[in-house]
Amino acid sequence: MDAADENLARIFTNAVGAAPDGVWSAPGRVNLIGEHTDYSDGYVLPFAIAARARVAAGVRRDRRLRIRSLQRPHDDVDLEVDALADATPRGWAAYPAGAVWALRDIGVDVPGMDVVIDSSVPIGAGLSSSAAVICATALATAALARVEVDPLQLALLCRRAENVVAGVPCGVMDHAVAMLARAGQALFLDVRSLRLEHLWLPLQERGLALAVVDTNVRHSLADGSYADRRRTVEQIARTLGVTALRDIRIGELDEAESRLPDPLQRRRLRHVVTENQRVLDTVADVRAGNLAEVGPLLMQSHESLRDDFEVSVPALDDAVAAAVGAGALGARMTGAGFGGCVIALVPVDRLEAVERAVQDAAEAGGHPPPTVTVEAPADGAH
Ligand code: GLA
Repeated sequence: MDAADENLARIFTNAVGAAPDGVWSAPGRVNLIGEHTDYSDGYVLPFAIAARARVAAGVRRDRRLRIRSLQRPHDDVDLEVDALADATPRGWAAYPAGAVWALRDIGVDVPGMDVVIDSSVPIGAGLSSSAAVICATALATAALARVEVDPLQLALLCRRAENVVAGVPCGVMDHAVAMLARAGQALFLDVRSLRLEHLWLPLQERGLALAVVDTNVRHSLADGSYADRRRTVEQIARTLGVTALRDIRIGELDEAESRLPDPLQRRRLRHVVTENQRVLDTVADVRAGNLAEVGPLLMQSHESLRDDFEVSVPALDDAVAAAVGAGALGARMTGAGFGGCVIALVPVDRLEAVERAVQDAAEAGGHPPPTVTVEAPADGAH
């Protein structure tokens, strides 16, 4: 247990009147590249960040599930474990309760539990605050129920919890990286085969840093734009007669586009197909140790998300332009978009200039003041 875990254990003891059985945690994430590809069976390359959701949990003798969150001080939830169901409960508690539901749904005998949550992952910033809470709760639940679940299987259950109980049609990227991330490494995941590979990102050795610029423009995946993108790519796959857009290779793109009468559908297709190729190109560069070569791929990814997938917003575009103008080798929006964060690959000696430039650009553009952090790939759930 680190100091933050111990602190949460103390808070739990004060609130519940007994010490927790343990404290489990899972990180937020940024995605280096491979955006809006996971629900097309494609490739992603995320890594975990330092901010984490922590869950202190203890078994209860009755069948109740009592959930408190330090981020929701007057909003405790008291549920019947046996009454958890699709879309029940709604609101913030859907995320932790969803994790409990998903384990019950595969037949795990979950006991009554007290749960106290504390998360440092900002909500709505595109850093996967929800996956962090769900994954930490799922680990806690499995431990209290005394079952061993393979981490990848647990990630899939967590996605199911988010899809079914919280009603968000997200892919598996966020849960996979929250569960499986390793310090210093990015997670290359093929979402179709679920084959995964941990890739070292020797940033320091190359004199580079990954800056994360939170624009503080907030988004919600529940607002329909995300679901809309997902419906569109599924429709395109049906029109093209493939299982998912992953099945269209870069060399087949022109021919596939010519079979789509709708220009909007052609743009959406182009994003997914070119983005999958950019992940493969990035992986090749990372394997070869050419981290600087990743910069231009980040730029192309951003342009594609902005122009073809249309999920960027001016605050993100301005931050990308400012970062690159001040010496970043590349930058892109990360996560679902419509607000949230930009990542920038920055030579260490340009970090200060980049931070200043994105602050100035936000002010000039009339956006909220951004928050800039430097992230190194962190550990997954434990
Ligand atoms: C959100 C979803 C992920 C993924 C990204 C976009 O973070 O939860 O599954 O689709 O958006 O790449």
